[in-house]
Amino acid sequence: MSRPQHFGWFLARGFGPHGWGHPYLDWNYRWTEPALYQESVRTLEQAGFDLLIIEDAPSLGSPATIDLRVRQAFGGPKHDPLLLAPYLFAATQHLGIVPTVNPAAYLPYTAARQFATLQHLSGHRLGLNVVTDTGSARHFGTAPPPDHDGAYDRAEEWLAGIKALWNSWPEGALIADPARGRYADGTLLGHVQHRGDYYGFDGPLNALPFTDGEPVIVSPGGSGRGLGFAGANSGVQLALAPLDRESISAYRAKIHAAAVEAGRAPDDIKILFAIQPVIVSSAEEADRVVAASRDPDDAAIAYIAEKQSSDLETDLTALDLDAPLDLSVFGGHVSQGSIARLVGKHDVTTTPLSTLLAAHARLGRISDRTGFVGTAGEFADLIEELGDWGNDGVLIWGDLHPVTVHRILDELVPILRRRGILRSDYVTGGLRANLQAF
Ligand SMILES: Cc1cc2nc3c(=O)[nH]c(=O)nc-3n(C[C@H](O)[C@H](O)[C@H](O)COP(=O)(O)O)c2cc1C
Repeated sequence: MSRPQHFGWFLARGFGPHGWGHPYLDWNYRWTEPALYQESVRTLEQAGFDLLIIEDAPSLGSPATIDLRVRQAFGGPKHDPLLLAPYLFAATQHLGIVPTVNPAAYLPYTAARQFATLQHLSGHRLGLNVVTDTGSARHFGTAPPPDHDGAYDRAEEWLAGIKALWNSWPEGALIADPARGRYADGTLLGHVQHRGDYYGFDGPLNALPFTDGEPVIVSPGGSGRGLGFAGANSGVQLALAPLDRESISAYRAKIHAAAVEAGRAPDDIKILFAIQPVIVSSAEEADRVVAASRDPDDAAIAYIAEKQSSDLETDLTALDLDAPLDLSVFGGHVSQGSIARLVGKHDVTTTPLSTLLAAHARLGRISDRTGFVGTAGEFADLIEELGDWGNDGVLIWGDLHPVTVHRILDELVPILRRRGILRSDYVTGGLRANLQAF
């Protein structure tokens, strides 16, 4: 038997028109209504997944680039995933649901109360993907947004405040004993009084304490500050890294060191590496798909240009594709990591933009570890190998339509189960308990 691992699904385009432009929309899914998501999460739970994470950005981005975000629906519109969560909890019994939340958008008291409410409603299955992007600051006030590290300072203060509120009902404060005629002992409630750099508020919280632990904090930041935040706070870290043994070990070591530094055990954090597989029915088909992507046509390059333009909030489609990319087009607002991912290993001063974009359209095979096109068996081999290296789990990245979910999981799940990699049963106690079960 192989090592069991945890599985998450990442709805990468958020609660929006994910899948827009794909023919499977002719199945008449309506992204604004719950049925599409309820059907999908039931399948994820049947499959034994631990959690669904819903990407989010509260904003359409800077005023100058809104059209880039919406014209192909890569960056919006997006409805609020926190409000979708109750519908998904109602459709499932065990799956963790993890909306993305940004401290910019919720005052700590409101956040603590809403998250506590969802944690109780769901039987302790709420997770929170805490992100620190500041691109939506203008919707929440007129103060200039904090810089990168300042946004992490704010997130730390926000979360510490929320936890203080959650803990404002100590052991014994809730009595709920009709025989004694007392519901609660208000004299025990903690008098939280927070006066910080970013927030000021008083407690105690007007919500019940938890029986099976706090909501699980999930985090995706990969910078030094991001890893430190994860080490101190997270039960799950979402990781983007090359899937070779060295990169995975190095990433894991950094998170574990940050956890130990914060006084936690390395195993308190499950690290899920993100993968976007293309599952096909045979090795020959995989070879054909990869070969067909080798010389991307104009339409394929235009698609990549649109997507990158939305992600980078910079209109690459308006540039001369035959000329090298002048990095000054990005100004100061685009993350260096995102630019580095676009450029890859090319020399940006001499490589035409079309070549950079074409590289993103090219696919590789799972079997030789050049990419993620392969059969379910080959994908299972990859996951098994990751487990041999000590990996905790995998985050499958994509839309969340029954068509895409089944396309990836129908053959994969039985193979992973036979090999002992994927759980067959859930434990009681909610998301945290299931993450800590192995
Ligand atoms: C797997 C993954 C998921 C992410 N999801 C979101 C998201 O839903 N919303 C968001 O604003 N940023 C998201 N991010 C971006 C991070 O929150 C963060 O802004 C970015 O990683 C930069 O932070 P860093 O400098 O600490 O790496 C995601 C990143 C990764 C790798």
